[in-house]
Amino acid sequence: MKEKIKGIENEISVFDINNVESLEKFRIHFLGSKNCIKDLFAELKSVPNEEKKEIGQLMNALRTSAQEKFDSSKIRLENSASDDTKIDLSRPADQIEIGSRHPLSLVRSEIIEIFNRIGFTVSEGPEIEDDWHNFSALNFPPEHPARDMQDTFFIEKGETEMALRTHTSSVQVRVMENEKPPIRTISPGRVYRNEAISARAHCFFHQVEGLYIDKDVSFADLKQTLLYFAQEMFGEKAQIRLRPSYFPFTEPSAEVDVSCTICNSKGCNVCKYTGWLEILGCGMVDPNVLEASNIDSKAFSGFAFGMGVERIAQLKYRVNDLRLYSENDVRFLKQFSSGM
Ligand code: PHE
Repeated sequence: MKEKIKGIENEISVFDINNVESLEKFRIHFLGSKNCIKDLFAELKSVPNEEKKEIGQLMNALRTSAQEKFDSSKIRLENSASDDTKIDLSRPADQIEIGSRHPLSLVRSEIIEIFNRIGFTVSEGPEIEDDWHNFSALNFPPEHPARDMQDTFFIEKGETEMALRTHTSSVQVRVMENEKPPIRTISPGRVYRNEAISARAHCFFHQVEGLYIDKDVSFADLKQTLLYFAQEMFGEKAQIRLRPSYFPFTEPSAEVDVSCTICNSKGCNVCKYTGWLEILGCGMVDPNVLEASNIDSKAFSGFAFGMGVERIAQLKYRVNDLRLYSENDVRFLKQFSSGM
């Protein structure tokens, strides 16, 4: 019996385990359900009683050494296997999809940064406005036809009639009511107008309006500020021209064109062969507007301007259909970089 045990012991120690197959062979032979050590245990019955203890211990030791060899060989094989599939540190990482910023957010941030650099702060206000802030304080008398310039969505709210703001000039009224000059602020935000949705019009869009009130603010200050803006936004070669216009809250008023950046003013279908693109409305704040917000119009003057973010984005990215900005089509949205 001892001989047999020795034999198996020898077999275990010389068994060469160098791959997964030989490991499995070893397991079946020495540790499987019908293994050779089990067979020996079956023979234990025939061993004389006085030797049973000793032989039993030898056989247990045999089983332990088979198990130990199996365990250590398995670990060794696993480690060497992972050596073959070592991590390749030069491999480029998987791309993380972080999305991209909306073109209107990109352009709005750029406009804000440009005006921040010359001291304009950002003001915000409610999208649901009362008549005073959206119209009356801005020199729109009741029943005045100028109210029809901006088709309004009205909302019934209790006694008072409210409306979705048609421009962010309403925010500027709130600033004038709450702050003393000098005031230098821009108000970015969403505005609403009751228009049929098409490539060129939408029932909502985004504006950035600016207001500067101080002693001796002149039309020259307005022109220079807008030229600075145009050159920061469209490049240093950009030029502006002002055409007389009308707004109830400014006098004089003007519409501002920027030289067509697409064809360098040579004439193309975007600028309709004029060399100019309309980008904003502006003017000197009407004294009535200052007085309505309790600002002394004899002591202070100011200018205001307002632009559509979609319009600037259209010129920057050549997106001609306004509807694309609000349809959330990822094929459109992912074309704009996230790192601007
Ligand atoms: N509030 C005007 C609009 O929405 C824009 C504007 C602002 C014009 C300030 C002049 C001065 O059309």
